Amino acid sequence: SALTILACFVAYLLGSILFAPLVSRFWGLPDPRALGSGNPGATNVYRAGGWAPAAATLALDALKGAAAVWIGQTLSLGPMAMAIVALCAVTGHMLPLFARFQGGKGVATAFGTGLALAPLTTLLLAAIWALVMKRWHISSMASISAAVAGPIICVFLEPEALPLFGLLTLLILVRHRDNLIRLAQRREHRL
Ligand code: G3P
Repeated sequence: SALTILACFVAYLLGSILFAPLVSRFWGLPDPRALGSGNPGATNVYRAGGWAPAAATLALDALKGAAAVWIGQTLSLGPMAMAIVALCAVTGHMLPLFARFQGGKGVATAFGTGLALAPLTTLLLAAIWALVMKRWHISSMASISAAVAGPIICVFLEPEALPLFGLLTLLILVRHRDNLIRLAQRREHRL
């Protein structure tokens, strides 16, 4: 419907707001796209400025994903339309209109949409992320592990969210192509 298309457009625009460079500027840090992995995300903000600006980036990038879902819920869209709106927010983060389509890897934004649409699965995925991070200290490995676990865990806890998690996982894995290559070569950056 026209409402779904409108919500998708707003979700894409919201997703396009990259909070890593904005938070970095606010904190007086260099642009994350010019250092570390070059990725505009919380992990790379951590490399430049430590946990506080990284947590702010994670929270804001997640919040824009959740906000996109809340807009869809306000318009009382159906479950399939809601999933598409969530994917639009994550796509906005990955291919942002305001940054020449050079975006991030979508983990925090996907986390925000997941929290709003399938909180049980998403909280368990956050726990998996934290466990992998604690054991190996590699952010991309934690993100990839949580992404792969998403569609599997949601089948048991929130099966209606399988299309969402399936597509989120696909997008996130594609965006981690360079990380996957470095992991295979055992050259991935540790935090
Ligand atoms: O969410 C991004 C994370 O999985 C990897 O970030 O900067 O190490 O490529 P980075």
